[in-house]
Amino acid sequence: MTDVLIRGRVLTFVREPEGIDDTRAYRYYEDGAVLVANGKVADVGSYADVARQAGSSVRIADHRPNLVLPGLIDTHLHFPQTQAIASYGAQLLEWLNTYIFVEEQKFKEPQHAALIAGRFMDELLSNGTTTAVAYCSVHPESVDAFFTAAEERNMLMIGGKVMMDRNAPEALRDTPGQGFDETKHLIGKWHGRGRAHYAISPRFAITSTPEQMEMSRALVAEHPDCYVQTHLSENKDEIAFATSLYPEAKDYTDIYARYGLLGRKTLLGHCIHMSDREISVLAETSAVGVFCPTSNLFLGSGLFDRDRFDKLGARHAVATDVGAGTSFSMLETMDEAYKVLHLQGQRLSPFNSFYMMTLGNARALDLEHRIGSLYAGADADIAILDSRAKPAMELRMRVASSLAEELFVLQTMGDDRCVAEVYVAGQPMKQRREGPAKHLAP
Ligand code: GUN
Ligand code: FE
Repeated sequence: MTDVLIRGRVLTFVREPEGIDDTRAYRYYEDGAVLVANGKVADVGSYADVARQAGSSVRIADHRPNLVLPGLIDTHLHFPQTQAIASYGAQLLEWLNTYIFVEEQKFKEPQHAALIAGRFMDELLSNGTTTAVAYCSVHPESVDAFFTAAEERNMLMIGGKVMMDRNAPEALRDTPGQGFDETKHLIGKWHGRGRAHYAISPRFAITSTPEQMEMSRALVAEHPDCYVQTHLSENKDEIAFATSLYPEAKDYTDIYARYGLLGRKTLLGHCIHMSDREISVLAETSAVGVFCPTSNLFLGSGLFDRDRFDKLGARHAVATDVGAGTSFSMLETMDEAYKVLHLQGQRLSPFNSFYMMTLGNARALDLEHRIGSLYAGADADIAILDSRAKPAMELRMRVASSLAEELFVLQTMGDDRCVAEVYVAGQPMKQRREGPAKHLAP
């Protein structure tokens, strides 16, 4: 693949910022460059240094004065809910039954699944997101559509077939045996193919019988290199229902612990109404709690207590949770994250926000050697951000005096309009975006 030298204001993190002034947490090159060769970062630094290394024949993509960042990472969302964003008026269980379990039935149709999967990937890219962890529907066809669309774009994507064998419409239920067999088949087909990673996905305790949880345990034991994703402690009615279905468990978290589902590769959506004991179990098992601010506000679920996760030493990540989440944009997501934490008297610095969307989420996935940074050897997944993309931003930026302030403007006022370009494994992707599809199902 041809080499390219990407020039702009380069920002990449080396660790989590400890305070607003922690300049040791990141590297920033005002006139910087990233040299890409064979889909990977070959060098990063000041333009003068990197250009000298690259030689005179290299092609230059000049993105000045825009920011050059690692591609953004979304650690929890639902691809079959792309057309269910903004479903009105309900909290979690009613919302699932009224809207989501109707919408997801459409993904039995491979053509529909393929169409939405393509649009889903393009929407992620439009928003500067180059890697995401997604739930597919219960239908194996939806997983094929998902990984095919990712492969066509060469994106590093993580996903899996939802398993659910109760408390859902007949058309969306599998059985413990079927969930096991289909998941095994899909792991064999997709996991490790190109940039694909599989996530074993029992939807949540409410929609899986103890027999299906046993099957999930077996899948995890047989495939320790796969991710595991499920939902935990999002809504009070959900918690009461889940714990009533597993009366022997100490609490909601203990349900997953009893079935061996908590480990370093486990991502647990929401984790809002958690006791200290539960958060400590996540800390002991290294499982990751996933903060989904737009979703938690939209469904009226509650506020994620990041400081208690930090105090008890539990890992956490951040995500959109589309379609309960209301935007594909990680910038808009961090805007809401700031507000959710603010309501609880917690601070989220702009540097910490940008760390979370990039290296922080990569570390939560144990993929920091490949994505989330711009260091030599990393995959060249890169987002180019324009802090002046909207007229109101341009005005606001005229009086901004620091990088921290610029990042805060981007997060607070920005959206997909601020993503000037996105590179996947070194390839620019914006111009290849599809126009509106003409044959979308209603
Ligand atoms: N809990 C179980 N399934 C879902 C889902 O699809 N979205 C959200 N937000 N929570 C869930
Ligand atoms: Fe979710």
